[in-house]
Amino acid sequence: MKLPYGHASAPALILAPMAGVSESPFRQICRGFGADVVVSEFISSVGVSLGIERVLADMRFEPVERPIGIQLYGADPAVMARAAALVTELFAPDFVDINFGCPVKKVVRNNGGSGCLKDLGLVQDIVRAVAGATHLPVTAKVRSGWDELHRDPVTIGLRCQDAGARALTLHPRTRTQMYTGDADWDEIARLVEALEIPVIGNGDVTTPEDVVAMHNHTRCAAVMIARGAFGNPWLFRQARALLTGGLRPVDPTPAERFEVALAHARLALRLQGNTRRTAIEFRKHLGWYTKGLPGAAELRQRLFAIESMAEAERIFAAYLEDRTPAMASAAR
Ligand SMILES: Cc1cc2nc3c(=O)[nH]c(=O)nc-3n(C[C@H](O)[C@H](O)[C@H](O)COP(=O)(O)O)c2cc1C
Repeated sequence: MKLPYGHASAPALILAPMAGVSESPFRQICRGFGADVVVSEFISSVGVSLGIERVLADMRFEPVERPIGIQLYGADPAVMARAAALVTELFAPDFVDINFGCPVKKVVRNNGGSGCLKDLGLVQDIVRAVAGATHLPVTAKVRSGWDELHRDPVTIGLRCQDAGARALTLHPRTRTQMYTGDADWDEIARLVEALEIPVIGNGDVTTPEDVVAMHNHTRCAAVMIARGAFGNPWLFRQARALLTGGLRPVDPTPAERFEVALAHARLALRLQGNTRRTAIEFRKHLGWYTKGLPGAAELRQRLFAIESMAEAERIFAAYLEDRTPAMASAAR
């Protein structure tokens, strides 16, 4: 089944929820490069239901980001329901996503994220409670199971569908695998066969060719990209071109990379505060935007020491002057 977003004859492209990465500035950049849908980083249902200001701030988004899903995690169906109702009332996103995939110890210790996968009755209770608390579509994002012994994505998917999920994302690894081994795309294909709701494939998609390969392998309704989008929003545009039978647009030049990195940085300063902290938290993005460039190691060493975005601007300008004098003067 198709998602109500994206293109008629090709899968939708979704920027994955990523804590500390899929924040409003990066979501806006990826929408600009052709991501059809974006999802917030995971948000604590307990934090929302207590009205904690920092947690509420993490959910803010701009109209240009739509369609956007806000992702909630938690192990208490009543708290999840209250959080979903509040999110609907305060932020009115396009859908609410439930996180059943997070492998982080702090989260699973309280049975949140992939911790829920140990008890599929609880998974159903949570989906049902959330779907009953909002008029918005409710979706779920799951791993293949808690461990190899309990690996059964089709049963997990059917239980979510029965409880009212309107789409399901599968990252086909177990919790115990964390990020080791390969994502098992065969499991996504089996889920597409088994479910009536749209299935979103996720895992190990890092190039535009991977997007096409995942779609051909699984016939999923959408492809969700996480790590492959680090410093690489161009991936969405390149993948869309391949999916619609076009040629792969060329990779961005260093000057184009820096331009987008700085546009992203300006959004971060505007939305997250023009502070030293924003600049320090942004260092990781600068490192990703410069990955693979000639002299990247030295460049990244300098970028990882910045305390203001103005420093990053100077470092980029100096790089272009040193390495590509013609390009730098053309850009002036
Ligand atoms: C830095 C980071 C943060 C993540 N945060 C979340 C999150 O908040 N919610 C979630 O459902 N998945 C989260 N994930 C998992 C990704 O959404 C995705 O399922 C996983 O990385 C596999 O996709 P990939 O191979 O395209 O990276 C995170 C992954 C990374 C690398």
